[in-house]
Amino acid sequence: MAALLAGAGVTALSGTAEGAASTLASAAAGKGRYFGAAVAAQHLGEAPYVATLDTEFNSVTPENEMKWDALESTRGSFTFGAADRIVDHARSRGMQVRGHTLVWHSQLPGWVGGLGASDLRSAMNHHITQVMQHYKGKAAAWDVVNEAFQDGGSGARRSSPFQDKLGNGFIEEAFRTARAADPAAKLCYNDYNTDGVNAKSNAVYAMVRDFKARGVPIDCVGFQSHFNSASPVPADYRANLQRFADLGVDVQITELDIEGSGSAQATAYATVVNACLAVSRCTGITVWGVTDKYSWRSSGTPLLFDANYAKKPAYTAVLSALGGSDGGGGGGGSAGCTVSYRTTAEWNEGYNGQVTVTAGSTAITGWSVPVTVTPPQRVSATWNGTPSWDTGGNVMTMRSSHNGSLPAGGSTSFGFTVMKNGTGGAPSLGACTAS
Ligand code: XIL
Repeated sequence: MAALLAGAGVTALSGTAEGAASTLASAAAGKGRYFGAAVAAQHLGEAPYVATLDTEFNSVTPENEMKWDALESTRGSFTFGAADRIVDHARSRGMQVRGHTLVWHSQLPGWVGGLGASDLRSAMNHHITQVMQHYKGKAAAWDVVNEAFQDGGSGARRSSPFQDKLGNGFIEEAFRTARAADPAAKLCYNDYNTDGVNAKSNAVYAMVRDFKARGVPIDCVGFQSHFNSASPVPADYRANLQRFADLGVDVQITELDIEGSGSAQATAYATVVNACLAVSRCTGITVWGVTDKYSWRSSGTPLLFDANYAKKPAYTAVLSALGGSDGGGGGGGSAGCTVSYRTTAEWNEGYNGQVTVTAGSTAITGWSVPVTVTPPQRVSATWNGTPSWDTGGNVMTMRSSHNGSLPAGGSTSFGFTVMKNGTGGAPSLGACTAS
């Protein structure tokens, strides 16, 4: 989202770069990546859900339909209907599929936990084999094992029927069975709270390093990336992705969602996208749902489309981080706006900034623009707009006040004073959102 603007120069941030990709999928493809969403079969009859999915995404992860309880609730009897509907939908539109997930302690039918060790081993291998063969040639990647490590500082494996009865070796066995079942599928280990460098990710790292050293088949590591204020994007996110990639595996962002709203959420999303783009083996990003309406954390509005399928500032931020452009909309329609910035005065302790907002090809009735200054800089005054502030105090969203109505191509300006507090540098602007 943020383009860093030169000190006193004039820089136009155009929302409609000629030829720029205008969807998440096409923009990501331009960067050699996929952009996916978790999909639930029960929403495939809802027109705007399908339209958004088909327009914006080129990879699909069934949100629940490929979990053990969905596919094999009774031992030896497989139910593929709902998962097949998602896979068929995706494939008929040229989207790839991430299989999720073969061996996981959660959403596991009770019968599995009741088995003795040798029976459990054969049930696990049978499950992996049956499911992967059913989707052979249709799933690009599989989360073979999900969430096998404990949270916290122990670095230990999480207790589960598999861990408790088969020991550490169950993970290796699952990967070997998976490779045999569909040699063309990429085999991933997937987990959460492993997004930064910490005891849990160190333990996963050690396992992946060991697998690579011993020739255990593993191709990728998935980072779920469920973020919120208690668990924000870690500062070493990119570095953590990179150290895994350096082991010789691809990395993927598999379940991205970031609770919040407005420019703070948009900025966090852009950080994640930029981290992936900075790691050449980061092959794609999947967000954990299409719309806030159906998010597993719906009250936290963590996704890119709101409950009415309108594009959120986070959408615009992701698209622009991917090098695309939606024409400056960000509100879902064609009522776009663009912004340009200049520094109008500067002195030792501060400077004045001016942002010009220009309506696109249609008239608009309101606008908003995120403005981020580098801490410890602080905005000390504003004019010709209504500011709101994110926690931290350095991200201001400026909304139109008396000057929201602009005819097509019309312009207005707002301004602000920034106290430098010892640090120079111009603010960065997010994309303009029109209403
Ligand atoms: C979640 C689904 O989104 C929910 O609908 C379901 O009730 C519980 O599981 N880690 C994972 C995902 O790997 O499978 C989980 O999905 C979210 C956390």
